[in-house]
Amino acid sequence: MRIIRTVTDLENYVAAARAEGRSIGLVPTMGALHEGHLSLVRKAVSDNDVALVSVFVNPTQFNNPHDLATYPRDEEADFRLLAGAGVSAVFAPTPEEVYPGWPEPAAPKVYDLGSAAEVMEGKHRPGHFQGVAQVVSRLFELCRPDRAYFGEKDFQQIAVIRNMIASEGIKVEIIACPICRADDGLALSSRNALLSEEGRREAPEIHRILGQSVEYSRTHSVRATHDSVVEALDANPMLEVEYYEIVDGRTLLPVEEWEESDWIVGCITVYCGDAAAPEKRVRLIDNIAYRTPSNH
Ligand code: PAJ
Repeated sequence: MRIIRTVTDLENYVAAARAEGRSIGLVPTMGALHEGHLSLVRKAVSDNDVALVSVFVNPTQFNNPHDLATYPRDEEADFRLLAGAGVSAVFAPTPEEVYPGWPEPAAPKVYDLGSAAEVMEGKHRPGHFQGVAQVVSRLFELCRPDRAYFGEKDFQQIAVIRNMIASEGIKVEIIACPICRADDGLALSSRNALLSEEGRREAPEIHRILGQSVEYSRTHSVRATHDSVVEALDANPMLEVEYYEIVDGRTLLPVEEWEESDWIVGCITVYCGDAAAPEKRVRLIDNIAYRTPSNH
């Protein structure tokens, strides 16, 4: 596995692969890799001649400096896992390499990300999706992938990236991969490493309650289903719902009736940890499908 640190080396590597007519699959990540990331990586390895993985904690998508400072990093372990999965090359640059002029880069371009970027994470993490669009479009420009792999754990992120490539006219196939979970149902996340023992014990409640709500939704309205999830989770002293929104799977805009769409997803963010120590709480994200189109 090649370890690439600079934009020049990456461009040369990609140009050589392209000249040989090899297909390129890209998996963008922020490292601290787990089975969830590896499920994307394995698919990229099997679908493409060249599987490229980026490991870069992108500072421009963090709206909270504490979140950026505490984001888990373990480059050596990441490289070992990627080599074991059969990855061709890993791109692990510094911010200076990705953003010319860093830490005072030129004013960033503003991307047209559509209404999908205004709701949920867009509302609660101002600037987050502009940062994601900035780094992902830069990676697409440098890696020129045929396919790029993203996890449905970050359901809204996929919709926003689809809007970004449409508005920028970038040609790449976006492959959405299912959520990978621990045996107890907790969605795998790099942030799980930051949970206290008690937090880790209670966090699987998120998926359990969401799963139960699918059953409940068969006989209850959207509003009642929504409220039952928030009430059940907020009753747990270790959990606090930041938002729960039941939305159309394409537009990400809220639905009011189950009949409104053939694709309906509940997207949630929960703070997990002791409410008496708010700075130690971990922000977890998950989602559940209430209705899925047959072609999905
Ligand atoms: P990161 O959180 O490292 O996630 C990298 C990719 O792995 C994302 O597409 C994410 O959805 C996917 N992923 C994470 N946990 C998963 C799980 N349990 N099951 C399936 N897929 C999972 O998302 C980002 O990084 C960044 O925003 C990035 C796209 C790299 C831009 O900086």
